[in-house]
Order: sequence, then structure tokens, then C-alpha cells
Amino acid sequence: MTRWLLALALALPVAGWADELTAQQSAGQKAFAHRCGMCHREGGTGTFVLARRLGAAQSLLEQRTDLKPEYIRYVVRWGLMNMPRLSRVEVPETDMTDLVAYLTRPRPAAAP
Ligand code: HEC
Repeated sequence: MTRWLLALALALPVAGWADELTAQQSAGQKAFAHRCGMCHREGGTGTFVLARRLGAAQSLLEQRTDLKPEYIRYVVRWGLMNMPRLSRVEVPETDMTDLVAYLTRPRPAAAP
């Protein structure tokens, strides 16, 4: 019984979180994994450089709540210091729209 409750407690928040993504945000999550993940997930150069410049808390783009759509688009198309610019061939506009929706998705306020 205790074990069952523990399993439920662990499973619920994860399921609830996944459900909160809209179809577009979930397409954006896939586009992000495909186009940006090699540099911007755990162990990527983007994560490494951002941790050095902004601190660990700001280093994973998927966890950021302060990114603005215009800023993301600008950085991707024009590059930023150590990040190369990515063309419309490398990141098609449809993927861009989806991944911007994903990275700027509204989130519940972080627990204090
Ligand atoms: C080849 C590796 C690479 C790829 C691919 C890449 N980035 Fe980056 N990105 C970086 C690096 C490195 C930085 C840090 C630049 C710096 O501070 O010098 C960065 C920084 C950024 C920043 C700036 C964050 C800030 O707070 O200033 C944004 C936004 C960003 N990337 C978005 C993206 C998105 C969206 C994609 C996918 C479409 C992407 N990047 C793909 C390497 C990459």
C-alpha cells in the first residue's frame, strides 16, 4: 500500500506536466531536441557556455522562463558570440515557430 502510494506520488506530477503542453508546444519540444538539443541540453556546449556567462540556473534553455520570442529568433538567425547563426535550411520557419512557443510556454510560478 505504501509503495503504491509512493509510486502514485512520483508518477502524478510528471503526467500532469506532460499534459500541460499544447500540440504546438509539444511539436516545439521535438524541434528543440532535434535542432538545438545537441548544444542546449545537459552536457552541450551551449549549456556549458551559458553556465559560465549567466550561471548554472540560466544554462538550460528549456528551464528558462525569461526568454522572449524576439530574442530567441534573433539569436538563432544571427548567432550570438559562441553560437553560430542557423539558416532557414538548418532550422525551418515552421520549427522555429513551434520551438519558440515551447521555450516561451507559460509555466506555473516556481515554488519558493
Ligand atoms: C552548435 C551549438 C549550438 C546550437 C546547434 C544552438 N545553439 Fe544556442 N547557443 C550556443 C552557445 C555556445 C550559446 C552561448 C553563446 C555565448 O554566450 O557566447 C548559445 C546561446 C543561445 C541563446 C542565448 C541565451 C541567453 O540568455 O543569452 C539562445 C536564446 C539560444 N542559444 C537559442 C538556441 C536555439 C533556439 C537553438 C536551436 C534552434 C540553438 N540555440 C542552437 C550554441 C548552440
